[in-house]
Amino acid sequence: MTGIEILIEAFLYILPAYIANCSAVIFGGGKPLDNNKKYKGKRILGDGKTIKGTVFGITCGFLTGLVITLATRNTIFLGLGLLVSIGAISGDIIASFFKRRIGVNRGGPVPLLDQLDFVFGALILGSILKIPSLWAFLAIIIFTPSIHLTTNLIAYYIGLKKDPW
Ligand code: CTP
Ligand code: MG
Repeated sequence: MTGIEILIEAFLYILPAYIANCSAVIFGGGKPLDNNKKYKGKRILGDGKTIKGTVFGITCGFLTGLVITLATRNTIFLGLGLLVSIGAISGDIIASFFKRRIGVNRGGPVPLLDQLDFVFGALILGSILKIPSLWAFLAIIIFTPSIHLTTNLIAYYIGLKKDPW
């Protein structure tokens, strides 16, 4: 595989996860997933994980998979887009669960976990249908933190996010 082929494979594989993640930020808000409930005195997930963000995130990620399917005429991206989107949103939710357990408040930064939680969730669920090549996997892991930080910085400056991470 050439470098360009690796980057294309990585991009098509992970794009629904990126779209799911940023759609949750754009459309999120309102009723929290944990219904304000606490576990051992701390919120289960916190106000940063909402029903709207979760539903819109998975839906927009799936629609991205649909567009990729139509563009490539490869139906694997339909299922893959759905799995990767559910994985991304779940990975982010699980990370929030652990952030609350170690006493980090909603929005508090945990470097690398904040940037990679959704990608690991996406890769794990996506692998049910298609395990990416080692090089595509590495490209996703290596490029995601900087892409994520850049898009979050933009979201922060246009007022979509409370914190720049
Ligand atoms: N969001 C949402 N539902 C989700 C994920 C994200 O509504 N399932 C929205 C929330 O408005 C959240 C924002 O996207 O504040 C940014 O997401 P993220 O950085 O993951 O959440 P934080 O607010 O930083 O909270 P946490 O510390 O729990 O990660
Ligand atoms: Mg955050």
